[in-house]
Amino acid sequence: MKVTPSKNVQNIEASPTLVLVSKAKELMRQGKDVISLSVGEPDWPTMDVAKKAGIESIEQNFTKYTPATGILPLREAIAQQVNDDFGTQYQPENVATATGGKFVIYSLLYSLLNSGDEVLIPSPYWVSYPSIVQLCGATSKIITTSEQNQFKLTPDLLEKAIGPKTRLLLLNSPSNPTGFLYTQEELNELAKVIVKHPQLLVMSDDIYNRLSFDHKVAPHLLQSGQDLSSQLFIVNGVSKTYSMTGWRIGWAVGDSAIMSAMGKLQSQTTSSACSVSQKAALAAIQHGEPELKTCIELLRQRRDHVFPLLNHLPGVNVLKPDGAFYMWTNVSGCFGKSYKGQPIQCSQDFAQLLLENYSVVVVPGEPFGQDGYIRISYALQKERMNEAVDRMAKFIDELV
Ligand SMILES: Cc1ncc(COP(=O)(O)O)c(C=O)c1O
Repeated sequence: MKVTPSKNVQNIEASPTLVLVSKAKELMRQGKDVISLSVGEPDWPTMDVAKKAGIESIEQNFTKYTPATGILPLREAIAQQVNDDFGTQYQPENVATATGGKFVIYSLLYSLLNSGDEVLIPSPYWVSYPSIVQLCGATSKIITTSEQNQFKLTPDLLEKAIGPKTRLLLLNSPSNPTGFLYTQEELNELAKVIVKHPQLLVMSDDIYNRLSFDHKVAPHLLQSGQDLSSQLFIVNGVSKTYSMTGWRIGWAVGDSAIMSAMGKLQSQTTSSACSVSQKAALAAIQHGEPELKTCIELLRQRRDHVFPLLNHLPGVNVLKPDGAFYMWTNVSGCFGKSYKGQPIQCSQDFAQLLLENYSVVVVPGEPFGQDGYIRISYALQKERMNEAVDRMAKFIDELV
């Protein structure tokens, strides 16, 4: 007898970026020289200091259950890092770690939202936000931002979007997919609107905030001069900053009652994050900063290299990002054309034809909430990037 998945999961979309990664791997298995510009992770290895701490943890048999919100030294180090960055006074009980940033967001939203609550999500957004909101029984209200404002939420747009059911705003700076970050002045203006609405909570997704080209740490709402301590929750993790996506360690910082609620949920679902990974994350946070500088320099060189190359492609337009490792590339100039009789009417068509004919993987804009764009990740070596742009140029050249 056929078993049908539950209604809980039937309407959930599989993460499109992970789907593309597996599609690219499948083409590679078939012997195709696939270049993936879709990856959401750095291409360099986890830093040695973290790897060593993980190995030591295994050798010392630190391999058992830990408290549901994580070991105390890790929570202390996270609180310390946030306090050093933003001049706050968080304690370890204001921190909950979990298995990766994505599950942290789920655990936090599950602990904050009631069914029927409305969550404001500026678009373009990270693909998983609406699905996580849906899993929590809440409703997403998408706020479309514009290229003129570097796809950032403005105080006016925010004020207009807040309604009687609005409970939470999701903010991500630097942003996946755009790579743009909010300036301190922009955040100050948003903070003025947020404090006017004490029922409104904010989740600041800071997962890329140390991958910023002009700041040690990206500007933050916590530095806005407004007291947002009871409204704001931080999400962060080691995945992107320290190239530790497979170790699965993320955290939330905020009100201790909510952190305890997350602990309760986690105690009945994952028990805790992996003990070995927690030790590795601790070492990365405490000792990873010098190596991080080298990584950011490498990313900057890659951004500066690929930016003019992409902009020279006919029908393609991109603005220079401030952080992360993505370029949110406008390809709408290619719409209305066709490749060997196959029309390009949307980003999905563009991405699919490019993959099928030139083995280059890019993520179409639709799952991020905005057609007309593709997301290009430049976290890969220069030679491969050059080859990918050459293939894109040939593809575009053949459009009629
Ligand atoms: C904006 C954003 N937030 C959170 C995450 C979650 O990171 P992870 O679950 O790998 O720690 C990602 C990963 O792609 C992301 O891009």
